[in-house]
Amino acid sequence: MSNPYADFQIKTIIEPFRVRSVEPIRFTTPEERACALAEAGYNPFLLRADQVTIDLLTDSGTGAMSSRQWAAMIASDESYAGASSFFRFEAAVKDITGFKHVIPTHQGRAAERILSSAAVRPGDVIPNNTHFDTTRANIEFCQGEARDLVIAEGHQPMTLHPFKGNIDLERLRDTIVRVGREHIPFVMITVTNNSGGGQPVSMANIRAVSEIAHENGIPFIIDACRFAENSWFIKTREEGYGDKTTLGIAREMFSYADGCTMSAKKDGMANIGGFLALNDDELALHCRNLLILTEGFPTYGGMAGYDMEAIALGLYEALDEDYLRYRIRSIAYAAERLAAAGIPLVQPPGGHAIYIDARAMLPHIPDCQYPGWSLSNALYLAGGIRTVEIGSVMFGRQPDGSERPAPLDLVRMAFPRRVYMQSHVDYLDEIIASVYQQREKVRGHRILWQAPFLRHFTVRMEPVD
Ligand code: F0G
Repeated sequence: MSNPYADFQIKTIIEPFRVRSVEPIRFTTPEERACALAEAGYNPFLLRADQVTIDLLTDSGTGAMSSRQWAAMIASDESYAGASSFFRFEAAVKDITGFKHVIPTHQGRAAERILSSAAVRPGDVIPNNTHFDTTRANIEFCQGEARDLVIAEGHQPMTLHPFKGNIDLERLRDTIVRVGREHIPFVMITVTNNSGGGQPVSMANIRAVSEIAHENGIPFIIDACRFAENSWFIKTREEGYGDKTTLGIAREMFSYADGCTMSAKKDGMANIGGFLALNDDELALHCRNLLILTEGFPTYGGMAGYDMEAIALGLYEALDEDYLRYRIRSIAYAAERLAAAGIPLVQPPGGHAIYIDARAMLPHIPDCQYPGWSLSNALYLAGGIRTVEIGSVMFGRQPDGSERPAPLDLVRMAFPRRVYMQSHVDYLDEIIASVYQQREKVRGHRILWQAPFLRHFTVRMEPVD
């Protein structure tokens, strides 16, 4: 049948779902927000969620599940050992990643802890594009060194580059020569590069890192939290991948690696869960033994059967191309409007988040007064928006206790999957533009109390006069 409108090109990209269950958004007065923030020790992590209007603290575990996921959860098998929910989960992970052993964990950091405990010895070095904070902390907890080797562009917020998450291959080779292959238990790459701006890694770079690692007999592990978003960037930005499916691209990415750590709270489209997947039999055996010690039996490892059901479907839903087109476009839309208002952003915008360059936006706040943290608090005071600092509070404290400003001082706005609509984004843009226009009002912060590691979660601060 012919359609007279067949030539009409539809430009509007819509949310590829409709809403069937709603959750109210909370509104607060400026006075309520001022009190709430003071009570939270000027730490957005310590706010109550019902004091927040738009919550962009994280895209982790905060997404909306599909009706198919909920249906599968109702039909889960909660047997302690050998539950069919585990085998559905395992089959999905093997189908997408190709790895031989699938070790379920309650979330990504448990996979990191198990892998680090099994493989990292004191003095070892683990290269990565940029280690996420929990990955770094788990390596340092085993007295290893987490070394970031992202390309120079990855540190330049305004420089355009299609794959700013790439590893600097020369520095990787050099690190292996200087440190010695016997002191590098594995090389990692994080897709997308969260701490460096949610930036993708190209297939060519993944392939090259794999070759360099394998030439030296070193295993190569992918931190795969946002593997689907990375696959979309490869499809849309890398030559030769435009006609491939995102599933095919994901499979190729994993084919170069010996294993992965995964937080299923991101591109697993689940509220909790994760896994460690490995090809090496001996290492997998060791890791399974550690799993039993703290996580659980190897066919649930810290998850309920229904969590594994949600992930078994979620991994494929995250790869759905209508979904990815909307996801990446909606974040680009918000970023375009902010950039047009003059706000300095990490460019191009990442897959799950937009990052404001707080150092550039607030030149009157010195690094030692944490410009990113200060901006994050200002966005809460102005409009009830919760964001997270990725800067010197998160990364500035060195293992010896000294302070060094982080290479970038950013505020991350991470978008939960399938949760917020375009009007929420328009609201967000309005609040940020208004804070930008009154930016001289934003005050720096000083630390009153901090924990010895991962301090940002619990730190208590006060504004500086
Ligand atoms: N690796 C990356 C790249 C991550 O972004 C995270 C979590 C983890 C590992 C750890 O996974 O939380 O399941 O234990 N990132 C969240 C975030 C917390 O907000 O970016 P987890």
